[in-house]
Amino acid sequence: MDVTVIGCGYVGLVTGTCLASLGHTVRGVEKDPRKLKMLQDGHCPVFEPGLQELMQEHYASGQLQFTGNVKSALKEAEVVYLAVGTPPKDDGTVDMSFLEGAGKEVCDALVALNNEYMVTIVVKSTVPAGTNRKLYNFLKQQTNAYVQVVSNPEFLREGSAVKDFLEPDRIVIGGESPEAFRMMRRLYDPIIKREEHFMTMAWESAELTKYAANAMLAARISFMNEMTILCEAYGADIEDIRKGIGTDFRIGPAFLRAGCGYGGSCFPKDVAALEHISKAVGHENLFVEAIQTVNKNQKQRFVQKIVEKLGRPIEGATIAVWGLAFKADTDDIRESAAIDVIRYLLEKGAHVRATDPKAMENMKQLFKEQVEWFPDPVSAAAGADAVALLTDWPQYSTLPFRKIAATMNQPIIFDGRNCLHRDVMRETGFQYYPMGRPAVENTLRLKTRV
Ligand code: UGA
Repeated sequence: MDVTVIGCGYVGLVTGTCLASLGHTVRGVEKDPRKLKMLQDGHCPVFEPGLQELMQEHYASGQLQFTGNVKSALKEAEVVYLAVGTPPKDDGTVDMSFLEGAGKEVCDALVALNNEYMVTIVVKSTVPAGTNRKLYNFLKQQTNAYVQVVSNPEFLREGSAVKDFLEPDRIVIGGESPEAFRMMRRLYDPIIKREEHFMTMAWESAELTKYAANAMLAARISFMNEMTILCEAYGADIEDIRKGIGTDFRIGPAFLRAGCGYGGSCFPKDVAALEHISKAVGHENLFVEAIQTVNKNQKQRFVQKIVEKLGRPIEGATIAVWGLAFKADTDDIRESAAIDVIRYLLEKGAHVRATDPKAMENMKQLFKEQVEWFPDPVSAAAGADAVALLTDWPQYSTLPFRKIAATMNQPIIFDGRNCLHRDVMRETGFQYYPMGRPAVENTLRLKTRV
């Protein structure tokens, strides 16, 4: 089928590239001239495993094209995705200006083209309930084009977005037109393994499904994070509790990992938006407020633990931060727990050194020379009074800990992601403080032994 994707950011690019890989002809529209040039030179502007290769393959074959011109991109289009950002405003409400701008441009192009066949507009962006209906009414008023609107929320995770797109748990389509539903069914046919995984519903239900999914996942994390307080107070282990409840099929094992708080471009934004969507209808949503409060507190609690267990004043102490990305396998630092933790440490007068395999350049823009930057965890830890581990990069669990302990001022690790092995910590002479798990309070002082 002929597909146009407006917005070649993260979601648009993954969607366009994957649809091209399914055999559709895809035109991506990008307004930012710098990004467009990169795309037209065959470079992928975002870091996402597997995306660059797939993009280059289909760009080279002509199945995937990029342009800055909406009208020319819409000429043949049967399906038009709107995949522009809906970032949060300062007050937590959703900034709809990009989506409104894209909707207006598509409308103008449809009027100018005056095509006779049906065009389905697919809203991929995460939008408050009622947005798709408004867009449909707007298009109906402004154009005689044969146009339908469907909501198609995305459930991609950064780091596994290509796989998530090509092997979805479910595809949710909101709308009112059986014809548009059939068009979407055809479009996604190669990746629909079971009929019940393709779901159609009202626009508003699809819009709220997206917020509900992210808020539910964030709630699970905040719940487990709140449990870490009890675990630490009673000497229990949150990892045992995770296994103990995750094996109950009614609960399931996913998104129960405790740590120093969730981040990213989605959970914080969508949970905050849900609070405002509730307020807009006069409802104070205590549940989503609690999810956010726990997440904020968890980062403060992590720093408080450093203050209490450091064994020296935090002011003037050197803390090595391992991991800056909001999670492993991405260079994205948006709402990363590392931002708040570094800020709190700096406020308390600590010297912060930082390292990350992918996200260092992005974090440098934020903290500049307030932080010392290191190419790897070993050099960041040398001479430090403690390590604060904030991203679950798998390579951090296999570092040469004995060597690291010997070069530190005092061998202490605060593990904000519970990703190191307690036995390894004990055997290599570390004081080890995970989240909601028993600490390792070593009496071994490796430094004096080497
Ligand atoms: C999230 C959702 O998982 C996707 O389904 C959704 O499509 C996407 O938001 C979106 O709305 O676009 P993403 O933000 O890429 O995806 O990242 P996640 O893998 O969900 O992780 C989010 C945060 O939760 C990370 O900071 C991660 O470290 C944290 N997390 C995750 C935990 O603290 N514990 C867990 O058990 C899982």
